[in-house]
Amino acid sequence: MKLTRLLIAVFLIFSTFHLSAQQLKWTTVAPGVWKAVIGKPDAYNLLTASGAKPYVAGLAKMGSGNFPFLQGEIAATINDGKTYLRFPLNKEEQLYGFGLNFQTVHQRGRIMQLHVDHYGGRDDGRTHSPTPFYVSSKGYGVFINSSRYINVYAGSAARKDSKNPPVEKDRNTDKSWQAHPYSDAVEMLVPAAGVEMYVFAGPTTLDAVRRFNLFNGGGPLPPRWGLGFTQRVKSLYTSEEVIKEAQTFEEKGYPLDFIGLEPGWQSKSYPGTFEWDKSRYPQPASFVKQMADMGIRLNLWINPYFSKSASFYNALKPYTASHTVWVGEVPDFNIPQARKIFFGQLQKNQVNIGVSGYKIDEVDGNDHYLWPDVTTFPSKKSAEQMRQTYALLTMRYSLEMFHQQNRRTYGLVRANNAGGVSFPYVIYNDYYNHEDFITALINSGTAGVLWTPEVRASKTSEEWLRRFQTVIFSPMAMINAWASGTKPWSYPEVAEQVKELALLRMQMMPYWYSEFAKYHFQGTPPFRGMHLEQGFKPDVKKETVGSLEENPYALAVLKEIKDQYMAGEYLLVAPLFTGQKSRKIVLPKGKWFDFYTGEYAGNGEVLTVEPGLNKIPVYVKDGGIIPMIKARLHAPKLNEKVDLEIRVYGTKPSTYMLYDDDGETFNYEKGEYSFREIKVERNTEGLLTGTISEAQNKKPNTVGNVRWKFMMQQ
Ligand code: GAL
Repeated sequence: MKLTRLLIAVFLIFSTFHLSAQQLKWTTVAPGVWKAVIGKPDAYNLLTASGAKPYVAGLAKMGSGNFPFLQGEIAATINDGKTYLRFPLNKEEQLYGFGLNFQTVHQRGRIMQLHVDHYGGRDDGRTHSPTPFYVSSKGYGVFINSSRYINVYAGSAARKDSKNPPVEKDRNTDKSWQAHPYSDAVEMLVPAAGVEMYVFAGPTTLDAVRRFNLFNGGGPLPPRWGLGFTQRVKSLYTSEEVIKEAQTFEEKGYPLDFIGLEPGWQSKSYPGTFEWDKSRYPQPASFVKQMADMGIRLNLWINPYFSKSASFYNALKPYTASHTVWVGEVPDFNIPQARKIFFGQLQKNQVNIGVSGYKIDEVDGNDHYLWPDVTTFPSKKSAEQMRQTYALLTMRYSLEMFHQQNRRTYGLVRANNAGGVSFPYVIYNDYYNHEDFITALINSGTAGVLWTPEVRASKTSEEWLRRFQTVIFSPMAMINAWASGTKPWSYPEVAEQVKELALLRMQMMPYWYSEFAKYHFQGTPPFRGMHLEQGFKPDVKKETVGSLEENPYALAVLKEIKDQYMAGEYLLVAPLFTGQKSRKIVLPKGKWFDFYTGEYAGNGEVLTVEPGLNKIPVYVKDGGIIPMIKARLHAPKLNEKVDLEIRVYGTKPSTYMLYDDDGETFNYEKGEYSFREIKVERNTEGLLTGTISEAQNKKPNTVGNVRWKFMMQQ
């Protein structure tokens, strides 16, 4: 009897010990970045799958920061083979992130399961990049480095031992009763007996995002041509039709830098053979060359699932999953031999003859198409882990092919995750809600990914133009006509306006290129939400206590802003959607100017604008410097010198760092690049004048003559 009691006591002590939160030891792993480990984390995680390495120099430049939590405030427990995590929240905090959401920007109060999937119309964690990273308006970030399906309660649950428990109220009598009581923590459940986690310092929310991006290697630097215009042709096009398409763009004066071929370039798909179809593409090498001579590169659609007719079928089959996808074999890219065979085929058959990149399709889901969670893989990684990382693996090893040839690539992918920040791939999908596409663009900035609101087809010319207006202010200006066969001029009423927009995209190339360089070297996402802007914080509430109703700006800033975004350092883009004649725009504090006319537009206020169909409202921050070039049909070639027109907005002296390199190779990784300082100052007569620093010795120099355009009357 005594013994039984003793055993029970021992068991109870042991189990309480087991269930109580463990002290986490946070160690500095880079300036302003801390890591803690609990239990025995999986050896395979998002960072090992992607091979991401911190961009040390960029992090060093940011300097250290303060650990944003108090000692012991973060709780971690292991129970039932799973890890329970808890990060505190205070009353004023708002949260952003948790991947590529399409309908929400504010994440506090939401419940999700982070799960790679095709977006299904609900922000429930199932999305193309369910990045397990969030940032707070208080200016810090948290990243869980796990390739598991993580359950997230982002400030939605109330613990009994909470420091700020919700107050019990009587629904019968108290109007302030709430269905969702107050919660003071982000809680997460990771289905693994241990996990590795990271905290990123601010001081600003954007700084926390930057540290996360730099810790993941920094953003990708696309080749210049990647920022030009791209058209994806109908699936069964032939090489003659593709050549004709490129010629028509040229004749009609629409810019074009690369064409995407859809599944029909392969002799069978899907499952695919990864070989050219002989009837549609009888001479691939000379076709690719002919296109290159016209200044057009080629991007090829693939999904990685291969057919019995693939020439490498027998060799690769031993390294495949237990289940098929689209009846194709699923290569296990964690096995070196599998990578060698699969990418060896792509290299030999396509990359070596000049193909410039890939569209990696269907590495996201959905459940009916992708492998189920009972699938086994020869590398012994679980189906769950493979699902969370398959896109990372495919991007990582496809990029290696281009790296070996010292040629940059810029392509498309339908999934991503933390660890994939530096891969030059842009996410797209089959969903087509224009408003949600813009919300996704906002969220891409806190998910460590790039996203394109691609244009496919439209019911009306109004919709066509409205969609076009946003895709040129995004990471990839693209028409995906794989099914529709549309061209930029398909809606004659707006064909001229579309041309003007595509040419504007080309004119802005030095700006886009420099902004991507900032993503790479400084971690600043080129496309992001208003909440990452300085001076645009929800704590405006405090400043205006009592007078909130009379302050439309404060009211607007407190709300979730899902339909306007920042493009690069200076531009605020506020799209209109089909049917809209006017819209409200929240201009952050500081003076803002009209992008097209240079006129003063407002300062810390809510504007109502009626821009007409032909215009997408764009505003420039005071002191905005936008380097531009003449409109052209193709991006500048390797090392080509181009004249600049530098537009200066507003009245404030300022500087801009213009990035320059050869535009196509990876030589920038060896230091062959420069930032040239563009400086706008007031001279002794009180007029603004501009200078640009000299080109650096022995560095690529693509800047020709420089012309200044001061947009304000002086
Ligand atoms: C879809 C993809 C489309 C197109 C199509 C071709 O999965 O999202 O953009 O490529 O496949 O079959």
